[in-house]
Amino acid sequence: MKTARYSLVIVCLMCIIGVHSTAADHIRPIRTFTMTVTNSLKTPMFNNSITLPIRWIRSRLIDYMETAGDIDQSKFKFTVTYFAKLGYFVNAFNDVYSVWNASEKNYWRISNQNGSLNVGVSTYEPQKGDRVVFELVSG
Ligand SMILES: *[C@@H]1O[C@H](CO)[C@@H](O)[C@H](O)[C@H]1NC(C)=O
Ligand SMILES: *[C@@H]1O[C@H](CO)[C@@H](O)[C@H](O)[C@H]1NC(C)=O
Ligand SMILES: *[C@@H]1O[C@H](CO)[C@@H](O)[C@H](O)[C@H]1NC(C)=O
Repeated sequence: MKTARYSLVIVCLMCIIGVHSTAADHIRPIRTFTMTVTNSLKTPMFNNSITLPIRWIRSRLIDYMETAGDIDQSKFKFTVTYFAKLGYFVNAFNDVYSVWNASEKNYWRISNQNGSLNVGVSTYEPQKGDRVVFELVSG
């Protein structure tokens, strides 16, 4: 008897949550942006893109990079160095490291649809419709 009553309560809760989320989706379509990591400078070359929902909580690009890595580490693995006060600097995607020395000069350029970003991954907050691209380019 007790079990039956609990089941009824749970079913009702599921109905309420289900109806509520459908209504919310209808009113506010999911806002997204796309993130691409691309390298055609040295092997292994790759060009991987993912569409991610913009979070309700204010989030920086580095937070979305973590989400992409959680979804598919084989396409969006990254390596960073933390600089005090400045935040994270991207060293590598998918183990392809940027190099800056006498014989080789390249870096992971970050851009959106308007061009190169002048802030880093710890500062930039992706906006709805953004096309953020990380590309290994020659310096
Ligand atoms: C990477 O793929 C996207 C489509 O997903 C394309 O628009 C873009 O030009 C490609 N970039 C390179 C460097 O091939
Ligand atoms: C530059 O860095 C690359 C990769 O670490 C290395 O193979 C190369 O020998 C370096 N060149 C010089 C001049 O240090
Ligand atoms: C960047 O591009 C978007 C549209 O693609 C535009 O709405 C926005 O104003 C641009 N931002 C800047 C700073 O140019």
